[in-house]
Amino acid sequence: MFKLSFSVTPADCVILPMFEEADLEPAVKSLDAEHNGIIQTAFETEDFSGKKMQISLLYTHNKQSPRLLLTGLGPKKELTVRRFKQVIGAAIIAAQSKKAQKISVLIPKEVITAFDPTRAISQATVAATVAAYSFDEYKQKDTRVSEVTSITFFGAFESDAKKILERAVAEGKIIGEAINYTRHLGNVPPTIMTPAYLAQSAIDLAQKHPNIKVKVLSRPEMKKLGMGCLLGVAQGSAKEPKFIILEYFGLPQADSKNNKKTKPIVLAGKGITYDSGGLSIKPSNYMNDMKFDMLGAASVLGVILALAELKIKKNVVGLLPSCENMPDGDAYRPDDILVAMDGTSVHITNTDAEGRLILADALCYAAKYEPKEVIDLATLTGHCRVALGMDRSGLFTTEEKMAEKLLVASGEVGEQLWRLPLGEEFTEGNKSEVADIDNSGVGDNRLAGASVAAAFLQYFVKYPWAHIDMSCCYYTPKGRPWIRAGANGFGVETLVEYIRN
Ligand code: BES
Ligand code: MG
Ligand code: ZN
Repeated sequence: MFKLSFSVTPADCVILPMFEEADLEPAVKSLDAEHNGIIQTAFETEDFSGKKMQISLLYTHNKQSPRLLLTGLGPKKELTVRRFKQVIGAAIIAAQSKKAQKISVLIPKEVITAFDPTRAISQATVAATVAAYSFDEYKQKDTRVSEVTSITFFGAFESDAKKILERAVAEGKIIGEAINYTRHLGNVPPTIMTPAYLAQSAIDLAQKHPNIKVKVLSRPEMKKLGMGCLLGVAQGSAKEPKFIILEYFGLPQADSKNNKKTKPIVLAGKGITYDSGGLSIKPSNYMNDMKFDMLGAASVLGVILALAELKIKKNVVGLLPSCENMPDGDAYRPDDILVAMDGTSVHITNTDAEGRLILADALCYAAKYEPKEVIDLATLTGHCRVALGMDRSGLFTTEEKMAEKLLVASGEVGEQLWRLPLGEEFTEGNKSEVADIDNSGVGDNRLAGASVAAAFLQYFVKYPWAHIDMSCCYYTPKGRPWIRAGANGFGVETLVEYIRN
């Protein structure tokens, strides 16, 4: 991992994000003067105009800082955290493609005033850390992404704020690395990333952080608890299912004042390490990328890692039901009836609607904690993708305050949630002729599939709850200018922001 800091140091690539308005701030003016006005020339020749995501590389003929990389932020009035992070990320990736090792990044004046200095720095750090990550360990060494050794930030900050800004860099680094940790878990191929491997990752995490406790339930323990839905899905796979429980206690469990327990927030994450669809097998082109079907669980691990490293004073429990969905001779079938931990019977109408089944048992288990609230994260339905595309995730909840706070948190960090409905018509969509509910809706199950799935989960919920269907933005197929291909760690930053505030 490269070094990150707040300081002005010589770099082999200096990144200068600039607005379309092109009123150069003092730091840029002095760099321009130092290098014979090449920045002004780039504007005058119209090679560069500050348009969003535009990139121009200028060579200075100065060995100390040979490259200036101009990047466009677009018009000032369009400035958002999301835009800023994309621009920083794209610039880091462009610098890496030139094999730059020491990178220095200007944080523009307007960004400092718009976001406040520490947020500007921590968000830039997250963006840079996420951009520098690549999953290329399986490639030949000479084709891997070149390694960065350091990234430093500078700008017109108050001169006495260095300590605070260094802390902001450290915080951004923790969050960025937690996101990359989640991404990495998602990117590992499914033969390796089994439920047992996911459980071991949770155990390793707990070993490094004394505030995290972990417990992994195996098949007989799940049987004892009556987790019939999770065990039903797991039947078709040669891999042992695991139910992974993480407890992060940043607060003493008993509140010293009134001796009441501090109720935890429970996060539940779908951990299907591979989703073939089971006997209701997916068409082959839909089966690609189904190794990512455990990203809900991986995001929860990333959140808990970040909370522990940031020493956030909150109590959070992570529940990760994990198995594979495969079509073995012993697999669960359409027409089977499974019974969840709370006694609800579920008629299987499609074995590919497995995520809601494993989450059902996790949501029942969550009740044991008498949680303050529960948030689940899941790559649950293709329908959500059809509705929202690849850049927004669906948010379902009847708790107005949770919805509001989640939407604010996601906005603060530049992730995008979009609220979708729960309601009785979707609840009715799960009606069954032979059991309490069907698992994949009745009639034309192409209609409102994301809401019907959310309404299925709602059956098992007895506390304030929100569901995030992240089937829309869990991975980036071919990469974007600001992030490379593969899992993108969606949800980690939003939930850290949500929980800490
Ligand atoms: N893991 C999938 C959902 C998914 C699909 C996520 C595409 C990301 C991209 C889930 O288990 C699934 O197969 N859902 C079915 C439900 C249907 C059978 C009711 C779907 O969306 O088609
Ligand atoms: Mg499925
Ligand atoms: Zn799935």
